[in-house]
Amino acid sequence: MQNLEALRAELLASFEQAADLAALDQARVAALGKKGRLTERMKGLGTLEPDARKAAGQELNRLKGELTEALDARRAALEGGALDARLGAEKVDITLPVRPESEGRIHPISQVLDEMAAIFGDMGFAIVEGPDIEDDFHNFTALNIPPEHPARQMHDTFYFPERDDGSRRLLRTHTSPVQIRTMKAGEPPYRIIAPGRTYRCDYDITHTPMFHQIEGLVVDEHTHMGHLKGCLIDFAKSFFEVDNLPVRFRPSYFPFTEPSAEMDIGCSRDGGVLRIGEGADWMEILGCGMVNPRVLEMSGVDPARYQGFAFGLGVERSAMLKYGIPDLRTFYDADARWLKHYGFAAGDVPSLVGGLTR
Ligand code: PHE
Repeated sequence: MQNLEALRAELLASFEQAADLAALDQARVAALGKKGRLTERMKGLGTLEPDARKAAGQELNRLKGELTEALDARRAALEGGALDARLGAEKVDITLPVRPESEGRIHPISQVLDEMAAIFGDMGFAIVEGPDIEDDFHNFTALNIPPEHPARQMHDTFYFPERDDGSRRLLRTHTSPVQIRTMKAGEPPYRIIAPGRTYRCDYDITHTPMFHQIEGLVVDEHTHMGHLKGCLIDFAKSFFEVDNLPVRFRPSYFPFTEPSAEMDIGCSRDGGVLRIGEGADWMEILGCGMVNPRVLEMSGVDPARYQGFAFGLGVERSAMLKYGIPDLRTFYDADARWLKHYGFAAGDVPSLVGGLTR
């Protein structure tokens, strides 16, 4: 019978010589499998005298342990090598031009939301969100629009079916309920914007049943109408990228602000082309005002101590103005040609440092 030392050397060499995992497995079976060389030796133990069997058995077991370790080590080495080989083969050449199939575009709504977040973020506003499905209290009552108030009619609200307790949930008609949720959730000061979807039952060239707003809320002990104007004028200049943009604030009415205003920016419509900047015309871009003390009170904020302003901006309207998109309804047609024309390259994330639009 071959001596054990020679068998050991031969089997270890067969592991070392295995060039890949499949070959290593064959070597393993040949050594330790059911009919493997070592296994055969172990089977032969039965023919020995008890004393000799014990000694030989211990020897064979020790060798089996050694072989198993050698196998594991070789397997680990081969696996590492296989991974290295794969990593080596899977090179990415980042100098190659962008593949032609990467034609995805950022929708103008997403783009404008990102631009607005960059501008207000730079002014220190935090971004918060509220639910699309609201209740009467947050969408109306807490905003100083009690039941039967005529402002409720103006909102063309989508209601859900009545519930057992007689209440009806609704799709929020504006982002202003996020003002209430923000104030109820924590202590002043607040400086937030709340972008999101809003819903009104309306459909024509300037209205879609779903559209987007960005709400703004600033409340502390000192904020006054001058801050409101400064903040929104700065915003409009940054957003429209026109330094001497003419703006005006027209007195208006919202139940949740007092006084209330609407902000217009100057534009011209000469030759049927809308141009933002100096001109004979005005275009409304947002509603705003000082938060009505009753709203603060209903949100648990002490109106004797705190005050501030709020605004609500139409996102689609701003996008149409800035990028010359004539029909609101086309935003939601999901027409790839439209998106190719009006969309933005992915990766051009707007920032005040890098530029809003490139
Ligand atoms: N929520 C108002 C609207 O949808 C806009 C607005 C918000 C006005 C905040 C004033 C203050 O028309």
